[in-house]
Amino acid sequence: LNASLALNPDYVIAPVRRRLFGSFVEHMGRCVYTGIYEPGHPTADEDGFRGDVLELTREMGVELVRYPGGNFVSGYRWEDGVGPVSQRPVRRELAWHSLETNEVGVDEFVRWARKADVEVMYAVNLGTRGVAEALDVHEYMNHEGGTHLSDLRREHGSEKPHGVKLWCLGNELDGPWQLGHKTAHEYGRLAAETARALRQAEPDLELVACGSSSSSMPTFGEWESTVLELAYDEVDHISLHAYYEVLDGDVDSFLASAADMDHFIDSVVATADAVGARLKSKKKITLSFDEWNVWYMKRFQAEPRTEWEVAPRVIEDQYDVTDAVVVGNLLISLLRHSDRVAVACQAQLVNVIAPIRSEPGGPAWRQTTFHPFALTSRLARGQVLRVETSSPTYSTQRFGDVPVVDSVATHDEETGDTVVFVVNRHRSEPVDLTVALAAFGDVEVAEAWTVHDPDGSATNTEDDPDRVVPRPQTATIADGDLRVVLPPVSWTALRLT
Ligand code: AHR
Repeated sequence: LNASLALNPDYVIAPVRRRLFGSFVEHMGRCVYTGIYEPGHPTADEDGFRGDVLELTREMGVELVRYPGGNFVSGYRWEDGVGPVSQRPVRRELAWHSLETNEVGVDEFVRWARKADVEVMYAVNLGTRGVAEALDVHEYMNHEGGTHLSDLRREHGSEKPHGVKLWCLGNELDGPWQLGHKTAHEYGRLAAETARALRQAEPDLELVACGSSSSSMPTFGEWESTVLELAYDEVDHISLHAYYEVLDGDVDSFLASAADMDHFIDSVVATADAVGARLKSKKKITLSFDEWNVWYMKRFQAEPRTEWEVAPRVIEDQYDVTDAVVVGNLLISLLRHSDRVAVACQAQLVNVIAPIRSEPGGPAWRQTTFHPFALTSRLARGQVLRVETSSPTYSTQRFGDVPVVDSVATHDEETGDTVVFVVNRHRSEPVDLTVALAAFGDVEVAEAWTVHDPDGSATNTEDDPDRVVPRPQTATIADGDLRVVLPPVSWTALRLT
């Protein structure tokens, strides 16, 4: 197959938003306990944080982490997780049917985030709780001092406020599985009231209203519209969540997951703008894609939990190279929408559907999906460029005809670097790709990496952690055209300088 891309440094979509390289730490399964936190582990630091996981988080180029949930947050009492650890209560955790020891709470998480050098995005509980408790946790975390809760934080050892700017107004309250599930009207009112209260405390917070928990929800569209009509002036972002998996063995559709993500984003932008138009508002709502990933949800649904355990193994999906290509493609979609997607969080960071895996007392390693994230975060700098793509299409059962090749590019005026991210979604055919670069003058290939394996089900395991890694790719430039052969089911990054 043949395909071509045309790029021009003047065809700018928007600046690269570093907050697109977000992740998510939920009190779920082994994400916190034996994930980021494991006192007694050979690499643990003085605070009990695993050094190996911290190091991989930095290497992955994570910029922001959403915390503490997820479904977990809708039953969470933040007060349980502060003060002397020995006095913290153990609670039933209803979302994932486990026991929460509260050894890690907001103060510990903020300490971890500083070590990992990531911004904290904090979600408040609007499931079983409301405005008062949101104000309380805000006072505890962000108020300078001289009030009951800010002084309590100081007593607990955090003299300076945590300074968290980005707040989620609850989680997935459109979902019947959510503790405190609400109608769009009930939630929209609560989100608006909570937002107004938080802004009275700190006017320049950035607030995210819950959108739909997936585009297949029966209330999708209507939910966003109602919530935004009630909270348009009070919030900055509306959230989107999407998880992809191979359904009924249909790998072709799975490989086109990013086409669905494109459509989902465009639909939410259109819905938000329609509300803005009805309200005669000049303000534009931006999107927070604060949960996205590959998740083999069908497998999880087949294993209901019955025991009450601390940090059980829940949804520890082992990803293969095909999953990594899809993750790389989802990042392409997010970057392409940098004009409206302001925040994105891959869910989650460690062990729970995660790019990083760790074993209690044992090693931590990179899943296949770690690699496209790490390379995209390292290389995507400057401005996102629109790419004119000419590609053959293939037909999928779920998403119709989709292009075999999908791509986005970035250009950094300061360094002069241009980076092309491109996937070949075809399962058996390589693609002979030509990239027209004449508009950039004289450039050469500085680095070229491909994530691919002849066996699409190749994975990284504890025993073989580097089976799938990015491999150097051969790309040549002649007469202003770059030529590269993209293997079937592959993701490639090309840096030109
Ligand atoms: O990331 C796992 C779960 O997926 C989150 O807790 C929830 O918000 C979503 O349904």
